[in-house]
Order: sequence, then C-alpha cells, then structure tokens
Amino acid sequence: MLRENNNQLQDENLLDSFSEMETPFYFYDLKLLHKTLNEVQTLASNYDFDIHYAVKANSNDRILREIETFGFGVDCVSGNEIRAAINNGFSADKILFAGVGKSDNEIRYALSQQIKAFNCESIQEMEVINALAAENNQQVEIAIRINPNVDAKTHRYITTGLDENKFGVNQRDLPEVLDRLQTLKQLKLTGIHFHIGSQIVDLNVFKGLCLRVNEILQWFAEQQVNIQHINLGGGLGIDYQAPDSSAIPDFSAYFAIFNKFLNRNPEQSVHFELGRSIVGQCGSLISKVLYIKQSTNTTFAILDAGMTELLRPALYQSYHQIENLSSTGDINQYDVVGPICETTDCFGKSVKLPETRRGDFIALRSAGAYGEVMTSNYNLRDKNEAFYFE
Ligand code: LLP
Repeated sequence: MLRENNNQLQDENLLDSFSEMETPFYFYDLKLLHKTLNEVQTLASNYDFDIHYAVKANSNDRILREIETFGFGVDCVSGNEIRAAINNGFSADKILFAGVGKSDNEIRYALSQQIKAFNCESIQEMEVINALAAENNQQVEIAIRINPNVDAKTHRYITTGLDENKFGVNQRDLPEVLDRLQTLKQLKLTGIHFHIGSQIVDLNVFKGLCLRVNEILQWFAEQQVNIQHINLGGGLGIDYQAPDSSAIPDFSAYFAIFNKFLNRNPEQSVHFELGRSIVGQCGSLISKVLYIKQSTNTTFAILDAGMTELLRPALYQSYHQIENLSSTGDINQYDVVGPICETTDCFGKSVKLPETRRGDFIALRSAGAYGEVMTSNYNLRDKNEAFYFE
C-alpha cells in the first residue's frame, strides 16, 4: 500500500498547462500507473500468477501501450477491444475473448487473428464458434465461464456471479457442456473462467470463490478432464474515499488469499483479469465551473462535465472525490452538477469545497476505470484530448 502523497494535481504548474486545454478532459497520471503496474507485476510473479488486463476498464491507446510494456496479456469483450489491443502492440497469443454475447463477426475476426482463447458462456455460443472455426478448419482453445453462485457483496449492478445473473454456465449444466464438447471437434477445452463482480472490497469474498473453484476443479478431475488454466476474473476494488493515501490497492493481500485457498496442481496456470485496480486511481476527470447558481436552499456549481463524461455517479450512485484545484477560499457547500438535461446528472450533493467561482478547475478523482470508456455523445457532446502526466 502506497502512503505517500500521490496527488500530482496539486502541482501549481499543472494549472497553467490545463488553461491551454479544452475542458472537460481526462487526466492520466502515468507515473502512478507505472508504480501500480510494477507492484502488480512483482507480486503476481511471486506466485507465478498471470495477469490479463481487462481492456473494458480503460481502452485509451496510450494506457494500453503502457500496460503492454509490462508484458501483461489482455481480456477483451468485443471485436473492437481485440483490435485496440492488437493495434497497441499486444500479441494475439496474449488475448482472451470473453463476453456473454459475441457476434458472428466478432468471432470471425478473433479467429482470423488467432487469439489465445475464447471464454465461452453457453452451449449455443460454443456451437457457433465451432461452426465458424470449421470454415477454416481451425482448432480453438476455449475456457468455460462458470457461474459459481458466489455473492460478491458489491453494488447489484456489477454483481455477476449469482444464479440470477446472465453470465456464465451454471454448475448444474456442466455435465451437458462436457457431453456437447465431445462433438464440437474444433474446440479444445483448456480452462475454466470465473468473474463474480467488480469493486469487491471484502477480501473474504475471494476466499469463498476459491473454495467453490476447488470443488469445481475436483469435479473436473473426477471427469478426467484436464484443466490447464484457471482464470479467476477481476474484481478487486479501489478506495474511492482516499485516492491519494490508498493510491495503489492492496494487491499483496489479494494475491495472498488466492495463494492460500486455491488448490491448484503445479501444472495449472492461474490467471487474473484486473481492470479497475490497475487503472482506477491514475485517472481524473478535469472540468471547469461554468456557473454558480443559488436556489432556495442550495448552491449549485454547474460544471462543463456531466454524466456524458463520467457516468458512474448517475448509474451506480457512486462516489468520486471532488476537488477544486483553483481555490483556497472559505469552505462552502455545493451540489456539483453537470450541464446535461437529466436530474441524475449530479456528481455530488452538499459537497464541501473552498469558495468556488466560474472558471475554477474541478477534479473528479478515481475516474481512470470505467470513466472515459463509458462516455457518450448524448446531447451531442464534444470529446476532448486527454492529458498525460509523466
Ligand atoms: N473480467 C470480466 C469477465 C469482467 O466482466 C470484468 C468487469 C473484469 C474482468 C474486470 O473487472 P474489474 O477488475 O475491473 O473489477 N462499469 C462498472 C464496472 C463493470 C465491470 C464489468 N466487468 C463500474 O463503473 O463500476
């Protein structure tokens, strides 16, 4: 855990550079990204764990290139994510293709690139991949994504590992999957895959996952099916309340749990698909205050960034720390809102900020994951260039 002050945004020289930028824009602290990647790499290699970065968290070209230099693979969930990974230097044999609804075009593209493996989520999907692979007589490695029915104890919108969720194959259907795979001659089952949810902060949840995975591994062993790869997904949460004092998540405790509780045999490789924990804290959304508006009981600070640039507060009621980078005045309370024609376009209510004026720079912290990737052009919004601090 890194405890030094990591907030590069407090550097006054930065504000001069910001004044030449079109706002709102994403700010990426590449130094912090490097520190985080170093930490993940060192700790994962202690246990011989493999990391596939989950591209969905942030597919910005520059970020992908930085991650590639650390030798990680990638977990992609669309044809375009695979394309972005390849364009940014990832080799095909480090690309996994996951996702509950892969289209025929996406599957064809992934096959043409000879990616490492497909994580499959239903028998019908396996049949389609088999048929498309047969067109060129290709052999394809697959992993079965299994829904382990383990509660991730996170926001219900980002819980994926319960029976009620659409993801993966239920355990009770595994015998049928194995039967069917016997007839799907292009497919070679090499792995099993799990991902139970995101922003998981209770590490005990991962112990529960390991225990369930152990049962499932045992079952496969009894069926004499050789599982070479165990992919445990992502999900490690970040501390949205403390982006500076907890800039790097506790990867050490996270990996130690899997090392302790997962029963793997020495030939089995263990993979993680981390997204948020790698890129979450290195990004901030930088915005300018357009107007201060006083209503009966509320002072609104109206920003030039809205839910179109950072959707998480509107969609999950999520908290992002809000900082005024330009002011050191007396503390007042503001409802910090965006310009979009939706009442849910609000970043925080009764936020304590130094006296805030038109033109002040505002940072919305911890926005490196699921920030820029979830932007939209609703209201025909512009998209501005990002700023990279190195
Ligand atoms: N693997 C799979 C199969 C996934 O579905 C995900 C994320 C990951 C890995 C990476 O999980 P992470 O390490 O980032 O938790 N938009 C939401 C998060 C959605 C996560 C979707 N799946 C948010 O803003 O909180």
